[in-house]
Amino acid sequence: MSLYAIGDFHLSFSVNKPMDRFGRVWKNHEKKIEKNWHKKVTENDTVVITGDHSWGRNMDECMADLEFIMALPGRKILLRGNHDMFWDAKRTNRLNEQFAGRLEFLQNNFYAYEDYALVGTKGYCYEGLDTFEHFKKIRKRELERLQVSFQAAKDAGFRKYIMFLHYPPTSIGENESPFTLMAEEYGASKVIYSHCHGENRFDDSFKGFINGIEYKLVSGDYLNFKPELIL
Ligand SMILES: [Fe+2]
Ligand SMILES: [Fe+2]
Repeated sequence: MSLYAIGDFHLSFSVNKPMDRFGRVWKNHEKKIEKNWHKKVTENDTVVITGDHSWGRNMDECMADLEFIMALPGRKILLRGNHDMFWDAKRTNRLNEQFAGRLEFLQNNFYAYEDYALVGTKGYCYEGLDTFEHFKKIRKRELERLQVSFQAAKDAGFRKYIMFLHYPPTSIGENESPFTLMAEEYGASKVIYSHCHGENRFDDSFKGFINGIEYKLVSGDYLNFKPELIL
């Protein structure tokens, strides 16, 4: 029984969004996902998929992509990415009801893996795409969601945590952020994130051990679409 993570599948079985224009690594990437997943992941394993699942703009356009994910072996826990238009942040419970027994959606809740609580939220970092005021507003909301996730796990008696974000934990050049401070406050063992695409973005934030926490980037193209072993 193992825990894996990988993110940013950017699937488009129902919409026309060829990904190979983003580089050779994306050529037939859904075939790579399928092949690598089947090589590593068994029905007894758990995989956290860290967001940007689909290019579809609504549930109808995303369903074929979610079906592709559902057909992969193992327990699948999904995090919300910035491109996941099918996932209304206020209706995570409804998604969990709709896909019960097939997919689990991580937001304002947590999932148990052995004696660890898997906690997480989309997160946010400043990429220069919005005003600083807007950035701070979104970041505050995401921090509140992360706190709800941690606290629910803590209240349920968990003392070991693995924290998942879609966005990197810090903006470029930062040494810490409210997300890394929250990871330290609750004593998370690892912080796993994705969203960073292309070689010149892979070092946007932390990798390795910082203040006792292991940081890992698991965006699909960084991993060449091989699920990363977490535990
Ligand atoms: Fe992405
Ligand atoms: Fe993203």
